Amino acid sequence: MFDELRNRVVFVSGAGSGIGAGIVDAFLAEGATVIGADLTLPAGVHQIAEREWAVNLDVSDEHAVEEVLDAITDRIGTIDVAVTAAGTSTLGFATETTGSDWDRNLDVNAKGSFLIARGVSRRLLEQERTGRIVFIASQAGKNGYRGMTAYVASKHAVLGVTKTMAVELAPHGITVNAICPGIIETPMKHRERVEGGAIRGMSAEEVAAEDRSQVPLGRTGTVHDVAGVALFLASDLASYMTGQGLNVTGGMTMH
Ligand SMILES: NC(=O)c1ccc[n+]([C@@H]2O[C@H](COP(=O)([O-])OP(=O)(O)OC[C@H]3O[C@@H](n4cnc5c(N)ncnc54)[C@H](O)[C@@H]3O)[C@@H](O)[C@H]2O)c1
Repeated sequence: MFDELRNRVVFVSGAGSGIGAGIVDAFLAEGATVIGADLTLPAGVHQIAEREWAVNLDVSDEHAVEEVLDAITDRIGTIDVAVTAAGTSTLGFATETTGSDWDRNLDVNAKGSFLIARGVSRRLLEQERTGRIVFIASQAGKNGYRGMTAYVASKHAVLGVTKTMAVELAPHGITVNAICPGIIETPMKHRERVEGGAIRGMSAEEVAAEDRSQVPLGRTGTVHDVAGVALFLASDLASYMTGQGLNVTGGMTMH
């Protein structure tokens, strides 16, 4: 679909599940070289196919992020595109949210995404290369949602980083954008329906029905809905876009 993505080197965090896994598949199908990183992958940096690498990484660990990016630079040479899909969420009303809930959401979703974007863009600057940063934020970066204080705060932070890095990196030809998914069918969404339903006195099935009823397009999203927009943002078609938070929500969020 996007010939220019052939042979681009793409780093995807959260590659072990859900949206990140879908994005890995989408870039591989375009002929890109893809490094998938996740907490759940075996230790080390492994080549698992001609154009596919797997890396164990805790994105919230600053030292580990730098080590992994150095190892990839040594072995592959460069990273052209970074997509940050690693994420976590804690369900609980604001009055029940603990400091450790707060830290976990901010550490993984906000700091973890930032550390990857910083590391990849630093190396692009050193190599005098252009590139693309694509954050997976959320419509929770634009709205408030009951029972998701720490998560909502972390996603607002990601959109703040998107705009700031976009301005700083624009003169160097590095674009920085975010995707704001709505309700996407993944293991995280299933867990949220179970845990969120429990604190609201609803079953996961009732929450799923409520979810569907809130989407103007009449269905919840798939990882393919998000992956297609990640390809677009990495492609030449999006070369005049930076600092944006693109909603992929079936019409739930329109601002
Ligand atoms: N599913 C949705 O409805 C939805 C909506 C909006 C935004 N998002 C965002 O999309 C991203 C992906 O979510 P998903 O629904 O695919 O969830 P998921 O749970 O299916 O996948 C998340 C992946 O991130 C990995 N991960 C978690 N903490 C990590 C860490 N510290 N270091 C490295 N990897 C880590 C997990 O192991 C997992 O493989 C998240 O940032 C999430 O907030 C999801």
